[in-house]
Amino acid sequence: MPESQKTAEPCVMVIFGATGDLTKRKLFPALYNLARSKFLPGNFAIVGVGRQEMTTEEFQQQMHDNLKEFAGANPDGELLQWFCSRTSYTGGDFDDDKKLFHDLKELLAEVCAKHDIPENFFYYMAIPPDLFATVAKKIVKNGLGREEDGHWRRFIFEKPFGRDLKSAKKLNADLLAILKERQIYRIDHYLGKETVQNILVFRFGNSIFEPIWNRNFVDHVQITVAEKLGVEQRGGYYDTAGALRDMIPNHLFQLVTLTAMEPPVSFEADAVRDEQAKILAAIQPFSPEDSLHCVVRGQYGPGEIDGKKVPGYRDEEKVARSSNTETYAAMKLSIDNWRWADVPFYLRTGKRMSEKHSSIIIQFKKAPFVLFRDTPVDRLRTNRIEIHIQPDEGITLHFGAKIPGPVVKLGAVDMDFNYVEHFGEQLSTGYERLLYDCMIGDATLFQRADMVEASWEIVSPILDVWSAIPARNFPNYESGSWGPHEADELLEREGRSWKNPTSETSATDLDKRKS
Ligand code: BG6
Repeated sequence: MPESQKTAEPCVMVIFGATGDLTKRKLFPALYNLARSKFLPGNFAIVGVGRQEMTTEEFQQQMHDNLKEFAGANPDGELLQWFCSRTSYTGGDFDDDKKLFHDLKELLAEVCAKHDIPENFFYYMAIPPDLFATVAKKIVKNGLGREEDGHWRRFIFEKPFGRDLKSAKKLNADLLAILKERQIYRIDHYLGKETVQNILVFRFGNSIFEPIWNRNFVDHVQITVAEKLGVEQRGGYYDTAGALRDMIPNHLFQLVTLTAMEPPVSFEADAVRDEQAKILAAIQPFSPEDSLHCVVRGQYGPGEIDGKKVPGYRDEEKVARSSNTETYAAMKLSIDNWRWADVPFYLRTGKRMSEKHSSIIIQFKKAPFVLFRDTPVDRLRTNRIEIHIQPDEGITLHFGAKIPGPVVKLGAVDMDFNYVEHFGEQLSTGYERLLYDCMIGDATLFQRADMVEASWEIVSPILDVWSAIPARNFPNYESGSWGPHEADELLEREGRSWKNPTSETSATDLDKRKS
């Protein structure tokens, strides 16, 4: 949350896809948390829009039950009541602008009058991406998108924003034909995570890190977003997307740009986003050869997670039995600028991995001279800063220290900062800050059109090569491992290795992999 609390202006949040999973698990609990910490305006209301026909009372009941389940232990009964009294619903076919959008317009007028809310609306598109432009157009066509008489209209779009450069450009063009860029909020929920926001504070709010945050001191950077889960019920979507599209041009590139960007001139939205965009522009494009040599793809086979047997990707629901979709991707990025020339950024993400773990590791160069010749080489650790994003948010600094005793021997030690230990448990879904920022009109943590397109531009050549040359060795990693061995080779051939959270790659882990 921002330090100087500013209650959002009175407004109505209109959720398209109001009966879906995202609304139930994230959006309602996030709104509830905002209300509990007094960030929501008193004059606030929610209008749910879905395909299902349902009365407002039925929707309120659903919301009440969902909040009880997903808003943490013992939600406040009075607050739940307040929420329900502020919630309405209308259902129908999103393609039919006559009935649904006409009903919506009437409902919004009624809600504004009842709760004394000026006509400030923000629309949350928790719907399939192929409906984004259609729904936005119908909102505008029905007079609900134009900003007049000092009232604002904002549109939040969930990811995926396009599935390649061409589709992202088309979607941007369709939306920008009817809306202003400042009305469009392209959400990436990674920017709602505390530690991700903390990267900027850590780098630019302290004077000791920035002088060493460059090619003179940093050997390389590793960014890992590993999940234990498989594709769950999302096989239909995932089989047409894959790990690269699903995670890299959005979540992982956000982490890259925040880690690599220059200090912005201010924390105004465009000042920050300009610096992020410069990093995307400095990432070296992938030639077809690079796509084969600097990028690795993988697909999980059956295996064991937490002692339970789990099926391989090809046996998941709604996944083709001969699917060639990747569930793992790793790559080496080069950022061609003064600060980062010759400092590789290694990225990896995968499903059904050994642990749920996301982190950024800044690996520093070795000390220039080994003074401690009696110390076994494996104890001579290089320094690294680890930014833990999840599950335990925090920051660790690794360095060497003398092991007590009469001879000089070095051991590796950690200096740890853990968010929960320091600040206590914060109930957060990761969406609070993003919803709040949209309500106050701050787009800093949202993606701009040029950033989305630049990200797709980087990964599109890889997708092209992969579709032209399908993988021949899938599945190539066992569920519960740390991914395919080719990903280890990607670093090993440059004398480096991935830092896995539990151990440096163990023998059992290596055994689990198929060659
Ligand atoms: C989503 C992806 O954007 O992010 C999912 O579509 C993935 O496939 C999820 O599981 C990961 O988010 P988090 O916050 O659990 O790391």
